[in-house]
Amino acid sequence: MDLKIYKDKQEVAEQFSSYFADKQKDKDAFYVALSGGSTPKIVFDVLVEKFSDKVDWSKVHFYWGDERCVSPTDDESNYKMTVEHLFSKIKVPKENINRILGEKSPEGEALRYANLLEMDLDRVEEVPQFDLVILGMGDDGHTASIFPHEIELWDSEDHCVVATHPDSGQKRVSINGKVINTAKEVAFLVTGASKAEKVKAVVEKTEGSEAYPASLVNPALGNLLWFLDEAAAARLNQN
Ligand code: 6PG
Repeated sequence: MDLKIYKDKQEVAEQFSSYFADKQKDKDAFYVALSGGSTPKIVFDVLVEKFSDKVDWSKVHFYWGDERCVSPTDDESNYKMTVEHLFSKIKVPKENINRILGEKSPEGEALRYANLLEMDLDRVEEVPQFDLVILGMGDDGHTASIFPHEIELWDSEDHCVVATHPDSGQKRVSINGKVINTAKEVAFLVTGASKAEKVKAVVEKTEGSEAYPASLVNPALGNLLWFLDEAAAARLNQN
């Protein structure tokens, strides 16, 4: 595990963008699973403003680790957020953008997306392998859209699962733990004081942390990187 602590969200975004540009260079094709939520917004803004000319966007193949089952024009949509902060500002071939069609039948879409990943990506023991999976972590310790109350989805045999948000009941399609842990690189981008307690639990594997899906992220074949700001890292032992 490679854990770095930065001053604030902006510096996390800058450091991650530099890492992203470095990882993508020299690759004929770079397969990345994006996360949703709010953190990616500043990351995409920085990628565009400061690193766009350092990335060959024609070689980046975009997928999502999870998506809300809403219209692509809905403010809840991770795809919409990514268009607003990234795709509307860079030139990337349409065929490189593989959104989750969440507004259709969640179960049918989970199956379709799993088949798409299995077809598009290299596979390790039949599990699609991303070059990079970007993850956030919720205040409750969820990651992608695997929530504590449905933690059994992590070990689903299906590479994409249908999840339900614990509060809103919103349906989501998410990649499962096997796909996450098969990635060559997994990068957690976690910022803000509200995450500090779960960051400590997950990073230091404190008692009971196994109840949090984020604690199950352990890429057997690759690297796990944490990009934290000081607020999210405030409870860690070295702090
Ligand atoms: C989503 C995300 C989710 C997110 C965390 C953290 O679709 O909401 O994939 O897992 O990464 O909830 O979100 P923030 O970046 O807003 O803290």
